[in-house]
Parts: sequence; C-alpha cells; structure tokens
Amino acid sequence: GDWSSDVALPIWRHRRGVCSRKFLHMDSLLIKGGVPLHGDVQISGAKNAVLPIMAATLLTAEPCIIRRVPDLSDVKFMGRILESLGCAVKFEGDTLTVQAHRIKGHGDYDLIRKMRGSICILGPLLGRLRKADVSQPGGCVIGTRPIDLHLKGLRALGAKIEIEGGYVRAKAPRLTGTEVFLGGRAGPTVLGTANIMSAAVLAEGVTIIESAACEPEVSDLATFLNAMGAKIQGAGSPTITITGVKALHGAEHEVIPDRIEAATFLIAAAMTHGEITIHGAKPEHLNAVIDKLREAGVKIERRGAAMIAKRGPRLTPVDVTTLPYAGFPTDVQAQMMALMALTPGISIITERIFESRFGHVAELGRLGADIAIEGPSAIVKGGKRLSGAPVMASDLRASAALVLAGLAAKGSTQVNRIYHLDRGYEKIDAKLKQLGGRISRIQE
Ligand code: EPZ
Repeated sequence: GDWSSDVALPIWRHRRGVCSRKFLHMDSLLIKGGVPLHGDVQISGAKNAVLPIMAATLLTAEPCIIRRVPDLSDVKFMGRILESLGCAVKFEGDTLTVQAHRIKGHGDYDLIRKMRGSICILGPLLGRLRKADVSQPGGCVIGTRPIDLHLKGLRALGAKIEIEGGYVRAKAPRLTGTEVFLGGRAGPTVLGTANIMSAAVLAEGVTIIESAACEPEVSDLATFLNAMGAKIQGAGSPTITITGVKALHGAEHEVIPDRIEAATFLIAAAMTHGEITIHGAKPEHLNAVIDKLREAGVKIERRGAAMIAKRGPRLTPVDVTTLPYAGFPTDVQAQMMALMALTPGISIITERIFESRFGHVAELGRLGADIAIEGPSAIVKGGKRLSGAPVMASDLRASAALVLAGLAAKGSTQVNRIYHLDRGYEKIDAKLKQLGGRISRIQE
C-alpha cells in the first residue's frame, strides 16, 4: 500500500495508541557513496504476494500457516487489520499463522484507510461473509488508484456495492459464477484480479476472468487458494477459470521471493561497480528486467539458482517502457532511471501503468542527474557523476532509487522519510551494510 502524506498526522496522534512509533518514524538513511557493493544477499518474500495471501486467510475458519513472510510495516499493518476483523494473528520469525475463526465484516477503518493494499480484504470478506465494509483506499503519490474494476468484477458476481462517505459497502446474498473482463485503461489490475479470484472461489458455478493480471504474485495467490481447496486454473495467464466450492480449509504456503527487491540489488551491483550474488530469487520472474539490464551492459549470470550481477566494461543507454507482466515492471522504473542517470548518453523511460510515478526525478536532480519529463516519458541525459545531497523519499520504489543513487554518488546523501522504504524492503540498510555499503539509519 502507499501512504498518502496526510497519514502522518493521525499516526502521530495515535502514536501511543493504534500505531506504535515503529510504523511511522521520520528516520532517515545517511549514505556515504562511492563504495562498490560486494557479497551475497538473500531475497525476502514478496510484499505484493503476501498481502493478498494474508487477506485470503479470511476465507476459512481454519488456521493457515504462511512462510517466508517479509518483516515489513505493510505486512504488520495487514496483520493488525486482520486482528481488527477478529482474526488470531501470530508472527514467529518469518512464519505467520492466521485463523479467521469468527470474523466481522468491517475492521478498524482508521487502519484500513491508511494502507492502500488493504483493498484486497474486500473480495475475501464478500466470499466468506457475503458482506464487507471497507474504507475506500486513498490515492497516493503515484496515482489516483481507482477501484472501478474491482467493483465491476464483484458486481458481476452479484454483489450490491455502494460507495458513500469514503467507504465501500458491499453485500452479496448470493455469489454466482460469471464471465468478466477486467482490463482497464492501463491494462489488467493486479489487486483487482486478486479480489475477484478471492470472492469467486466460494461462488456458485464457474467464473472466468478475462484480461486477468499475469503477475507472479497473482499466481502465488492462486496456488495458496488451491491449497485451501479452491479450484483455479489458468493463473498467470490472461484467462483464469475458477470453479466455486462450498468451503475452503486451512493451508500452509511459502510465499514467492520478491522479484522487485531482486531487481533492485541487480541494479545496485551495476551502479556501484560491485559484484553481488543474489540468493533465493526466481530468475524466471525477472526476464524483462534481466533482458533490459543486459542490453544496458550489466553482466548477469546464473550459478545454480543464484544470480551474479556486475557492471560490464561499458554501460549503454536503453529505452524502457513499463508494461503489465511479463513486460518491464513499473515497480523497477525508478531504480532503472537511477542506473540510466549514470550511463553516458540519452535514455527514454516511459511509464505506462501509473499516471504520476516520476516523484524521484526531482530528487535525482538534486544529486546532479539531468532528467526532463515529457508527458509519460522521462528523458535521461546520463553520464555525469552524481554528488550527494539531502533528498526526500516519496513512494516506496522512488526511495529505493534514491538509496541506489546515494550509494553511487560521491559524498554523503541523506534520504529522509524512509518509512516509505520500510514498507517494502526488509532490512534494506542491514542488507546493504552487509554488502559493504556505508549506510546508517538516523532516528529522527
Ligand atoms: C499492485 O498494485 C502492486 N501493489 C503495485 O506495487 C504495482 O505497482 C501494481 O500492482 C502494478 O503492477 C500491490 O500488489 C500491493 P493495479 P495495484 O490495479 O493492484 C489502474 C509497490 O511499489 N486501475 O494493477 O493497486 C491503476 O490506476 C506497489 O509495491 C484502474 O484503472 O495496481 C493503474 O493505472 C506500487 N482501475 C493500473 O490499473 C482499477 O479498478 C494498474 O493498477 C484498478 C486499477
């Protein structure tokens, strides 16, 4: 989910109450650049897989065990949201146990409002209880984040949905399998597909989702739902068929590794002139990223299941357009731009998924990058050495790009508001330090 800037105040107010200070701190990272990163890094479980999977535990009264759960504030937040719905939630290391024995159709609005990704409880609540009241997710810095396709799909299954006072109130006396086209102006919707799949598993009859999202995180959710006794075929392809069943049972599941975190470390190796061995990732989830990085002159080789990345003799400017999976992921756009800022020549980076995902351009400019925005494209005139400066993180992936740029820049860079970073990257400062990065966290 993405915090809107107005979130800060309520949490400060609730500091001793709903949210511990840990959730929203004004910490920053101090980075001394110019040090090549060398060594091994272990990739954590995928944030964007575990959030819909946690929501899907609402579909059964039996306990579910989820492994390789990353220690992220968004994950902890989703845990509190499930607790506010009546679930028993237990984190033990990277294993999470959830039991939605007796749950209610609405949770703590204050919590739900604060995390966009919480929209993924809507489908499971409708599936299990046939009713759900969730707060409408706010927009965020990268776009308005509409949910019209989520509602289109749930209405097609028979839900009556009202939007009033910032809440989505849904009721579905009966859920009936249907055929629904979920493509929108920017292509498929990841969490929309997750929501429809999570409601359809307990509908009567067969549901066919056309123009479904093909992201690996959607496939991972389908794997988990099938382990619970659902009957889903075609996940990972644009057409998903779900045959409704009467009830689902508990299941165990290991979350897929985070392909976006892996991509971020591949780029970190190239930007710092280092060599990083990445363990635990699934290279087959990164084909578009690996292809583009190789085109840009980054050496990436496979050693068993590990990937080794380092900069080749010369970096080459490349053009990148973000697309739905299996195209180049929008969540790696900012990190790729940071690499292109170091690459002599002109590269054009076009963002086709979100309408305003260039928050990192101005901040990269403060480090000396020369980037002009022309509509959906950023034109990067790369090759100048970056020099450190204080910068402000705006969204999760922009923050990662700024950290990478700080690691490559000469001098010191202070990245402020790194709560954005903590939402999606598990212990990133510890992992970078372990690779030789000179990085320290400053408590605000
Ligand atoms: C998921 O968001 C991810 N978040 C995002 O990651 C990721 O960038 C995005 O998918 C695209 O891959 C989680 O999984 C928690 P969408 P989601 O619905 O599902 C439009 C990160 O940094 N749209 O696939 O919310 C929408 O405006 C985050 O980890 C509609 O028009 O994204 C966007 O332009 C950022 N109507 C496009 O579709 C709808 O009903 C793709 O959005 C829904 C979406």
